[in-house]
Amino acid sequence: MNSQNFNSNHVLQSGYFHKTLRKWQSTNILVEASNFIYPLFLHENDDAYEEIPSLPNIYRLGLSKLKNYLEPMVNDGLTCVLLFGVIESDSLKDEIGSFADNENSSVIRAIPKLKEWFPELLIACDVCLCAYTIHGHCGVFNKTKYASIDSCLNREKSVERIAQVALAFAKAGADVVAPSDMMDGRIDAIRNILRENNMLNSVSVMSYSTKFSSAFYGPFRDAAKSAPAFGDRRCYQLPSGSTGLAIRASERDVEEGADILMVKPCMSYLDIVKELKREFPHHPLAVYHVSGEYAMIWHGAKANAFDLRMILIEIIHSFRRAGADIIISYYTPLILKWIKENKFNLN
Ligand code: PBG
Repeated sequence: MNSQNFNSNHVLQSGYFHKTLRKWQSTNILVEASNFIYPLFLHENDDAYEEIPSLPNIYRLGLSKLKNYLEPMVNDGLTCVLLFGVIESDSLKDEIGSFADNENSSVIRAIPKLKEWFPELLIACDVCLCAYTIHGHCGVFNKTKYASIDSCLNREKSVERIAQVALAFAKAGADVVAPSDMMDGRIDAIRNILRENNMLNSVSVMSYSTKFSSAFYGPFRDAAKSAPAFGDRRCYQLPSGSTGLAIRASERDVEEGADILMVKPCMSYLDIVKELKREFPHHPLAVYHVSGEYAMIWHGAKANAFDLRMILIEIIHSFRRAGADIIISYYTPLILKWIKENKFNLN
């Protein structure tokens, strides 16, 4: 190489010295309102409006607060919500999470209301038992006196319950059911029960397919009042050091017929996001930007370590670059506002 003709800085800058050139370098990472899903915590008490201490600016909402709360977001372009039920009273919790598919549950009552208020809004429901079980685990145990979680979670019974809950949400009008329990076989069981009820064509299955065991879920367990009463979830969530198992978990769900895949959490797992997108380019891939990631960024910005908007642009770009099509984030309302005002663009 002739050093007189070679100036690497010049070569680089010629690619992006102009705003439009910078945009052209970023065409594969467009960020649009429809990339985002906003998680909602629906409290059993219809008048609840409680800020969640560990998730600043995020609320547990009762049904009577929902319409006014969501209206400005829908006007800003919100296209999808992910519903979680929250139970305050232990008396509604039991061994098998019976209240999860009770017709009086906040989620089941909210779905038709949301459809009525916002007919265009896509309604996704998290399907799990942990917020409804007395032990706070995501499945059903063999017996009530548990020696250890590893030996006692009953896969068949757990999967059967998960499928029943998914069906109840589908019957209430959910467009997407999203099982977050990670038990083997639940996608198959959900699709079977939907097929038996002639609902397979009207409901999509978004699987939490690659879900790691993570300290980043800390604030969520407070938000959803779903912390395990004993033990942890390591025997049914992925070890953070795993790659092969993490990929195989999604392969399992593709084989069982999942429509949409997911990696959760995401900031520490973008290598897995990229690898999954390469392996399954024809499946929409979601990332869950989880509660601990939200809180970490919030507190960092509050302490003036960085600017919230600038750091979120960078983080969201990293998700899109890695291959995420869908981003589930508690920052969705803020980001939608910035997108609308054309302020979510570094170019
Ligand atoms: C329930 C569920 C969890 C999250 C989503 N669904 C908690 C867990 O698995 O422990 C975490 C979401 C977040 O941290 O924002 N199974």
